[in-house]
Amino acid sequence: MLFETFAAGGCRSYLIGCESSCAAVVIDPELSLAHRYRGYLSKHGLTLRYLIDTHTHADHFSATRQLGKALDVPVVMHRLSPAPHAGLRLDDGDMLIAGRLKIKAMHTPGHTRDSLCLVMEDRIFTGDTLLIGGTGRTDLPTGDPHDLHESLFGKVLKLPGETLVYPGHDYKGRDHSTIADEIASNPRLQKTERTAFVAMMRSLDLAAPTHLTEALRTNMSGGKTVAQLLSEAASGVPFMSMDELESRLGDNSRDFVVIDLREKDAYEAGHISSAKHLPRGQLELRVNTELPDPTVRIITCCEFGKISILAAATLRELGYMRAAALDGGIAAWREAGRALEASG
Ligand SMILES: [Fe+2]
Repeated sequence: MLFETFAAGGCRSYLIGCESSCAAVVIDPELSLAHRYRGYLSKHGLTLRYLIDTHTHADHFSATRQLGKALDVPVVMHRLSPAPHAGLRLDDGDMLIAGRLKIKAMHTPGHTRDSLCLVMEDRIFTGDTLLIGGTGRTDLPTGDPHDLHESLFGKVLKLPGETLVYPGHDYKGRDHSTIADEIASNPRLQKTERTAFVAMMRSLDLAAPTHLTEALRTNMSGGKTVAQLLSEAASGVPFMSMDELESRLGDNSRDFVVIDLREKDAYEAGHISSAKHLPRGQLELRVNTELPDPTVRIITCCEFGKISILAAATLRELGYMRAAALDGGIAAWREAGRALEASG
């Protein structure tokens, strides 16, 4: 068996490969590591068979949708998962077989309603149900401390004590633990009685995870993160550096048009010399009259250098094949002490 742990911040994902059949599965892949799983798979000559999310993650971006689409591999989740891209939905006790790997799903609601633990040979992948020295929180959408108590004490902790525990997170660089170690020393598991456990979970008062709403939105819907949207747009758009634009502004032979996409007030307060004002919200409505020549060279700019990328991509899509975006926004231009003109 090939076994590799991938860490992104405190998030853990696992790639398991069967050497005899070259089949592999990935558990809880993280979006920023998508290329690393693919690299590992090809380096070891493995064919990915399943992409498993142990639950709907609220604190990081899952790579299952993207990898599943790219590699034509089913995304596996519990049947209660809201994700439309979860093509293979499991019930408690279902088993996946990939070559000699046999992975049994254990439904362990509590952290989320759709939480799964995955039992394979000598180990269990506990997602956020059981962490080393902790448990998943129960105060996020679909979490329930009563359910978590039942999942832990009624299911997970009943496995043999020597079972290896591979959690969905670890913030202290620990690799794994065992069921016996957790029963003995995990502070959250010392409250074995349900009412006391529930009261403890309810009193934790934890801060909301970073990216909570964006992670839930994208992981539940299969939609894109804002960063993904921008990077996809950026891959089809050339940029012009601020130095380049500044030196070209000084040329007499001005063969390009700068489009300022900000709102009127911002434009009037200070814009790049001779920039044309065309707010992003009106771009498609006014493009035919404002930019009648599709062969003109266009440099888009906005306050922070993000919307300008989307606008340049839209212009290219509309047939303005020389549209480019300023690398950076007017905020950075201003900060660098470069010239701006006021109007209005
Ligand atoms: Fe989670």
